[in-house]
Amino acid sequence: PANPSAAPPRSPFSRVTQEDLAFFRKLLPGRAITDPDLLKSSNTDWLKSVQGHSEVLLRPKTTEEVSHILRYCNERNLAVCPQGGNTGLVGGSVPVFDEIILSTSLMNQVLTFDSISGILTCQAGCVLENLSQYLEEKDFIMPLDLGAKGSCHIGGNVATNAGGLRLLRYGSLRGTVLGVEVVLADGRVLNCLATLRKDNTGYDLKQLFIGSEGTLGVITAVSILCPRKPKAVNVAFLGCSSFQHLLETFQCCRGMLGEILSAFEFLDASCMKLLETHLKLTNPIRECDFYIVIETAGSNATHDEEKLHNFLEEVMTSSLVTDGTVATEAAKIKALWSLRERVTEALTHDGYTYKYDISLPVEKIYDLVKDMRGHLGDMAKNVVGYGHVGDGNLHLNITSPSKDPALLAAIEPYVYEWTSEWKGSISAEHGLGLKKRNYIYYSKPSEAVALMGNIKAMLDPKGILNPYKTLPDQLHQDPHF
Ligand code: FAD
Ligand code: MLT
Ligand code: ZN
Repeated sequence: PANPSAAPPRSPFSRVTQEDLAFFRKLLPGRAITDPDLLKSSNTDWLKSVQGHSEVLLRPKTTEEVSHILRYCNERNLAVCPQGGNTGLVGGSVPVFDEIILSTSLMNQVLTFDSISGILTCQAGCVLENLSQYLEEKDFIMPLDLGAKGSCHIGGNVATNAGGLRLLRYGSLRGTVLGVEVVLADGRVLNCLATLRKDNTGYDLKQLFIGSEGTLGVITAVSILCPRKPKAVNVAFLGCSSFQHLLETFQCCRGMLGEILSAFEFLDASCMKLLETHLKLTNPIRECDFYIVIETAGSNATHDEEKLHNFLEEVMTSSLVTDGTVATEAAKIKALWSLRERVTEALTHDGYTYKYDISLPVEKIYDLVKDMRGHLGDMAKNVVGYGHVGDGNLHLNITSPSKDPALLAAIEPYVYEWTSEWKGSISAEHGLGLKKRNYIYYSKPSEAVALMGNIKAMLDPKGILNPYKTLPDQLHQDPHF
């Protein structure tokens, strides 16, 4: 298509017949949904930016049911869109045409938890926040946390290799996920649900499914290594007058807080304005150009407070930080975190949002925002920057009163060319989904994309799993592999 983010033509999959429906209804009594009103929200993404036309939503409860569904769909050449909490931000979680929606919403059981190793095994449809609550009662936490925690499923998190607010401390899901159970396109169940820290027996196949966005298999269960719940948590909300000062604050923070640092996040003044205007949140400190959220998590409150105090004294006396506030009590910690976590929500009230999720060398991340403001001039309503400084991950968001093809043409491929010039990633954590599939070459060499095509063809020869997503439209397999 002229716009590489737009949907390609429908592939020649079968269409759902009355016989197919009879099969699904028998397999999943009361859980094969065809009422158009009930299907609406599953056909629309969180951003309300893409709209599918599926007429069937299936809600299996067990791996065996998922296996029966996929075996049947594969034989019948019916396309399937796996869906978790539908909080994805790249149009990957909803059908493009009439793909059957396979939802994990009823696969929400914790299977085992070992309080010695901290290893949790659960079904893919467990909501992240529910898992966090379950673990906190046992003095553990999930190794990931994100603004969408109230809706997203752990299976969706693994399928997108979600990053989030704690990655700086606990690393990516590629390290903390110890095992996955996956149903392949033809219905075969691949049980790689290990609960071992160490297992070097052959290729680490689970990594193929982590971050594969539903294109290689349906994740039905996950085992994950969970850290102990920290005894002391502090959050500092600080202001800086320049991004350079913010970076110096980050360096100082790493040095002085060391092992207790659990998050270093930022938002700019434009984000703060959106929070105030659209969500009526209050800025707890003096107005400035950049705001930082720092979290510490440790095992000794006195030790942590002393470290934090010394750090704050250092950055205030050296004028790196112009103002700040600290919270140790749960309600205030939550309020400070909302200033960072709710930027995504505030943006939805500002108009149509063009979202970019870029990895760059950390010292370059804000240059892109400034450059984009100059490049777009009056065309954009707002150009804002926030994100995970600690991970070199910028969220560049551009709003407009409504969808605007001329604005989009001014942003893309400019933003991707800029990113690629600095050897960055055009999708640091949200994946490629529908919207970014054709831009993959800005971050991956063509040999790598071709090999991805071979892997896709091997695991899903008919291409029924989440078609039109992640891989580019013109995908040539490499005959030399
Ligand atoms: P969905 O949105 O339902 O699906 C996402 C993709 O995974 C789709 O391609 C889908 O087909 C596939 N999928 C879902 N479940 C399965 C399964 N069981 N097997 C195979 N494939 C599956 N992302 C981050 O990385 N970091 C953040 O900090 C972050 N914050 C967010 C904050 C907000 C307010 C919102 C709305 C989103 C945020 N996201 C973030 C984006 C999103 O990727 C995550 O919310 C989450 O990982 C998606 O999980 P989900 O269950 O909603 O998956
Ligand atoms: C975040 O870090 O807030 C999320 O990735 C969501 C977003 O990019 O808006
Ligand atoms: Zn993010």
